[in-house]
Amino acid sequence: MLDFNHEAGLKTHPPVSLNVYEGHNSNGLPVYSHFSVISMNPTNQTTTIGQAMQLAVQHHQAERYDDAESVYNQVLQAQPDNMDALHLLGMINYQRGKIDTAIGLIKQAIAINPQVAVLHGNLGNVYKAAGDFDNAAMCYQRALSIDPRYAQAYNNFLDLTLRHKTAVNRETLQPLIDSISFFHRFQIEITTECNLKCAECPRTVEIAEGSWTSKHMPIEEFRQLVNHAPYASVAVLQGVGEPTLHPQFEEFIAIIKSSGKFQFIALNTNALTRSVDYYKQLFDLGLTSLSISVDSLNQEIAALCRFGTKVEKLKKRIVDLAAISPHISISMVASKLNFYDIPETLVWLNSTGRFLVEIQPAIDYKKDNHQTNALSKDEIAALVKNIHALKESLPNISLGLPPSMQMQKESSVAKCNRPFLAPYVTLNGFLTPCCTTYDESLYGHANLIKEDIAVAWRRSAVSDWLHAYVEKTPDICKGCCFNSDY
Ligand SMILES: C[S@@+](CC[C@H](N)C(=O)[O-])C[C@H]1O[C@@H](n2cnc3c(N)ncnc32)[C@H](O)[C@@H]1O
Ligand code: SF4
Ligand code: SF4
Repeated sequence: MLDFNHEAGLKTHPPVSLNVYEGHNSNGLPVYSHFSVISMNPTNQTTTIGQAMQLAVQHHQAERYDDAESVYNQVLQAQPDNMDALHLLGMINYQRGKIDTAIGLIKQAIAINPQVAVLHGNLGNVYKAAGDFDNAAMCYQRALSIDPRYAQAYNNFLDLTLRHKTAVNRETLQPLIDSISFFHRFQIEITTECNLKCAECPRTVEIAEGSWTSKHMPIEEFRQLVNHAPYASVAVLQGVGEPTLHPQFEEFIAIIKSSGKFQFIALNTNALTRSVDYYKQLFDLGLTSLSISVDSLNQEIAALCRFGTKVEKLKKRIVDLAAISPHISISMVASKLNFYDIPETLVWLNSTGRFLVEIQPAIDYKKDNHQTNALSKDEIAALVKNIHALKESLPNISLGLPPSMQMQKESSVAKCNRPFLAPYVTLNGFLTPCCTTYDESLYGHANLIKEDIAVAWRRSAVSDWLHAYVEKTPDICKGCCFNSDY
């Protein structure tokens, strides 16, 4: 039995994080329901309630639930109205699947102090796990009304919205849209020039139609854009075009790094235009990860998929770039052109290093569907089967697959959250819902070179599009591998 000093109280509130694995999100990434714990700071040498709580939280974080539960119960014997102990005991019950007990305990914690956002957020998570989406939505709203910058409540509410849209209506969705102050990903198209002519690329398609303009973004416009940009976990510095062809690209990396708005800076490249030293310099300037686009490493097939690729040079680049940074991954587009050859490419990559290989089916940008190289649903299913059969023999490869290539039941796949969390900016500064579309009219010509995100994001065209998106899958999503109706 611990000896409690009842005077220890909520002197300081350093957040302690506990993560509960919840499955995969629509992008195939693991989702954690993250909850913050207000831990107490002891003031005395004897074992205080604060010390006991710290011990319990340590047990809890290490998933020693019996030990944690025992200490929380001892705290509650000594101090029955200890809000943290009630809350965390509730969370242990939630983690053990005892939903009713969890709800009861967290409600008791809320009754002690209704102004703690995390309690409402976690109660929302418990209701969500129980399938009570209306109550979950209400909890998230309450949490956000107390703390509008409470990222996890926001994410969980959004997930609820996109997975079970019955839980929201215009009135509940609008505050959610308005409260966005950070994004997962923020992508900027800095050039539309390229050295290759890839068969499925919208640039190649539009060049054939005579409607493509090749241009670099001027550096002053880029500076303005970064000033006006939102905060985001990752900035992606490429759209449709090869970013390393931009003559001032090194300066762009330095500018975006010095903005301090982004935790990570990433890009895709065909890796064929510049030396390895050039990429090393980009990493030194602040680039944090690089994805090399590889559809095939067979020269004939590569010429079909990514016309202009010199396979021997590309292979050497992959080896050399992997040697300068551990943060090199591979992006692969699967189409009829490389369907049979994908296993070969994976085998070569596996023999060369440890890589994350993200494979996505080609989106069909051609207006004439008779010429499509996009895979049918059956072909995608066959490809997934082939890749899974190979998995054992590819120990160095981690696969990143979009929802359309995962064997999930449709109901478990949330609608793509990119329009809410991963907007795209075209070469001319126009905001669009995601990187698959550069239709500048969708968000009413909101322009981040000219106006701040706070203004652009609050344009009625943005809200209208997002409301319509939740209601009905828009045309841009048809055939996109991130679309749950795919
Ligand atoms: C448009 S490129 C721009 C960056 C760079 N030029 C490159 O190729 O990596 C970005 C990524 O989009 C992929 N991509 C091109 N056309 C596509 C399509 N129709 N569907 C899906 N992805 C596509 C490319 O293979 C590449 O991995
Ligand atoms: S290298 Fe990238 S931008 Fe260039 S044509 Fe290929 S996919 Fe498109
Ligand atoms: S087109 Fe639709 S499904 Fe695809 S990434 Fe964009 S919003 Fe998501």
